[in-house]
Amino acid sequence: MGVLRILVTGGAGYIGTHTLVEVLAAGHEAHVIDNLGNSRPAALARVRQLTNRGFGFTRADLRDQEAVAALVAGFRPEAVIHFAGLKAVGESVADPLGYFDNNVAGTLSLLRALRESACRRFVFSSSATVYGDPDYLPIDEDHPRRVANPYGRTKLQVEEILGDLARADPSWSIALLRYFNPVGAHPSGRIGEDPVGIPNNLMPFITQVATGRRAALNVFGTDYDTPDGTGVRDYIHVTDLARAHLAAVDWTVVDWTVVDGGDGAGRGCAAFNLGTGRGTSVLEMARAFEEVSGREIPLVRAPRRRGDVASCYADPGKALRELGWRAELGLAEMCASSWHWQSGNPEGYPEDEL
Ligand code: NAD
Ligand code: UD1
Repeated sequence: MGVLRILVTGGAGYIGTHTLVEVLAAGHEAHVIDNLGNSRPAALARVRQLTNRGFGFTRADLRDQEAVAALVAGFRPEAVIHFAGLKAVGESVADPLGYFDNNVAGTLSLLRALRESACRRFVFSSSATVYGDPDYLPIDEDHPRRVANPYGRTKLQVEEILGDLARADPSWSIALLRYFNPVGAHPSGRIGEDPVGIPNNLMPFITQVATGRRAALNVFGTDYDTPDGTGVRDYIHVTDLARAHLAAVDWTVVDWTVVDGGDGAGRGCAAFNLGTGRGTSVLEMARAFEEVSGREIPLVRAPRRRGDVASCYADPGKALRELGWRAELGLAEMCASSWHWQSGNPEGYPEDEL
């Protein structure tokens, strides 16, 4: 293993900042491009403090073809980790064109710029949402893909575009990383998930109940065919997820002796599930959080949320076999780190901190 120049799109976001910390700690050189549409400068400043390492930052939209081309020509990345995208399911239903434009056209703009460069190593943030309502559990990478909303469709379309690209040009090495449910924060409590408005996802909602910002957790559905009737998901610690990106970048390098000039024959395009393989219900998560934080999480029974599935968890075996990666942190660490971040930053990142 060696050191690479890595372009990180969406590096100021939740998963991007945590991955950036690991990328820099491993000695790689990094450059972030982010339009700060869903993130704040403070997040990047804190990554610098945490790692004591510098990295480049370009504030630009991926769809700004000129800006992306100039950045690629100047930085000459040897690998790309592509996080930048919009991710709110409800918003995507209300504004499908906005989602296709940002997520699909943004990716095309990036790929066009890379085509003019030597870089053929690419790691993409996909999602378990591409499996839809699962036919069987645990879900492996061969499970049929289907989507229930425009957000999911953007992930599926980008997966397909990347697959075609690798078939057309065998020098590409492309990892499609299908995240299950990322939660948790860096153990320092300095960076974490900072959603705008009322959180849609379970963990940020729970932490806001714990700080008193919300009164109670609405449990969406108590009559599912699961052990306690509530929805079951495969929660994965964001630090584990971040490390999986390093493993994926290593996988994209076929021959470390010819890193800069490209590999000639790449690995093609392959998908990897990133999860723990373990399902946790809403009630289990609320209880685990209470235990770790010492705060009570009042629960309110609520109807099922539209579009939710009963259970979803990964078979993460392929990532272990081919990337040499597996999740190591459990529910207690997920809850403790989320609480550490939220209690130290009850309003998220300060707007004026640089
Ligand atoms: P996030 O919103 O915190 O981070 C995404 C970052 O990309 C933000 O900083 C945003 O400003 C930036 N961005 C978005 N569109 C851009 C554009 N056109 N040009 C430049 N920058 C842009 O989200 P996250 O949770 O860190 O997710 C990262 C990626 O992982 C996304 O692609 C998301 O769809 C995917 N993903 C996330 C989850 C999850 O639960 N968080 C699950 C599965 C997949
Ligand atoms: C949701 C998205 C999915 C996206 C993922 C990103 C939907 C339908 N799905 O997945 O596309 O990739 O986020 O992380 O939006 N829950 C409650 N109360 C709450 C919030 C959630 O009971 O206030 C329950 C849900 O019903 C579910 C579980 O908690 O059973 C997890 O929910 P969430 O964190 O939103 O993740 P997903 O639904 O798996």
